[in-house]
Amino acid sequence: MNDQYILAIETSCDETAAAIILNGREIISNVVASQIESQKRFGGVVPEVASRHHVEQITMIIEETLEKANMQPSELTAVAVTEGPGLVGALLIGINAAKAFAFAHSLPLIPVHHIAGHIYANELVEPMQFPLLALVVSGGHTELVFMKEHGSFEVIGETRDDAAGEAYDKVARVLNMPYPGGPHIDRLAHEAEEGVEFPRAWLEENSYDFSFSGLKSAVINYKHNMDQRGEEIDPQKVAKGFQDSVVEVLTTKTLRAARQYQVKQVIAAGGVSANKGLRTSLEQAFEEAKISFVVPPLKLCTDNAAMIGAAAAHMYNAGVRGNLAMNGLPGKELKSWI
Ligand code: KG4
Ligand code: ZN
Repeated sequence: MNDQYILAIETSCDETAAAIILNGREIISNVVASQIESQKRFGGVVPEVASRHHVEQITMIIEETLEKANMQPSELTAVAVTEGPGLVGALLIGINAAKAFAFAHSLPLIPVHHIAGHIYANELVEPMQFPLLALVVSGGHTELVFMKEHGSFEVIGETRDDAAGEAYDKVARVLNMPYPGGPHIDRLAHEAEEGVEFPRAWLEENSYDFSFSGLKSAVINYKHNMDQRGEEIDPQKVAKGFQDSVVEVLTTKTLRAARQYQVKQVIAAGGVSANKGLRTSLEQAFEEAKISFVVPPLKLCTDNAAMIGAAAAHMYNAGVRGNLAMNGLPGKELKSWI
């Protein structure tokens, strides 16, 4: 079989990214232009600002990706792009760039689900082993996904309100930390010996769903109460209390699901899987349970296009193709492609 080079494009949120992936496993080039500096001013992602940045960046990012790989468009096999979920205006910039590129160079298009991308980031580390359980924790998602083979997804649990990353970002605002808050809370949490006691949302006994809005409100209430009493909060203790609650719930539910579904491997994916507290807790839990656990390196946890290329490689081989009528799908569901 000929080598397969996929140019992948990702613009679903606030990173403008492109990558070239060889045979679904090897990163040839991977370029990410972050908008964090400009979004920081607003304390979160403003969709219009995100779209404007993508428009300014996308052509240069694609060119840079090809240059770094030292490749010509004629050497590519296909163009992959995130079709959703995400911000519709942001998605459209990547999709239109991908369509134009594919049309100009007569290449097939592959529409990729952003979460499938996060999961497939792990293929860039080591081959996935099935049956597999993925914990997807990002700014927009908190899901437990069971995969019996490549391209097969069953969402067995998801958040009923805020995503884990969203809760991190909101709590960081309460603590006057800049956007994105996750890494700051993570750092502060490690500086405290003891945390403030916050609730854990276990939900019904057998549920694999999550809920983080109660925890977020508990942190906000704690801050208000302290303010009213004229007392200062200790940000490290608040961060640790919050993080301990999130990490314990995520670890416990993931472990229970891994046992029930008798998986061979557990993987963590998405921006929050960059969290040191979470990584350590999951590593320990699965070492004890003797189940293989993989988490991608930090820069493949947060949004990037390499992961989109890794997922697209399997989709390409399974015959999945997009077309020039493709649209941004902000609420796209994670569906199996086999
Ligand atoms: O996957 P991602 O880059 O974008 C989405 O698809 O949402 O995830 C971004 C989220 C943000 O909420 C950010 O605060 C969080 O990931 N994050 C972290 C850490 N690094 C990034 N959360 C907790 N701890 C971290 N170290
Ligand atoms: Zn993401």
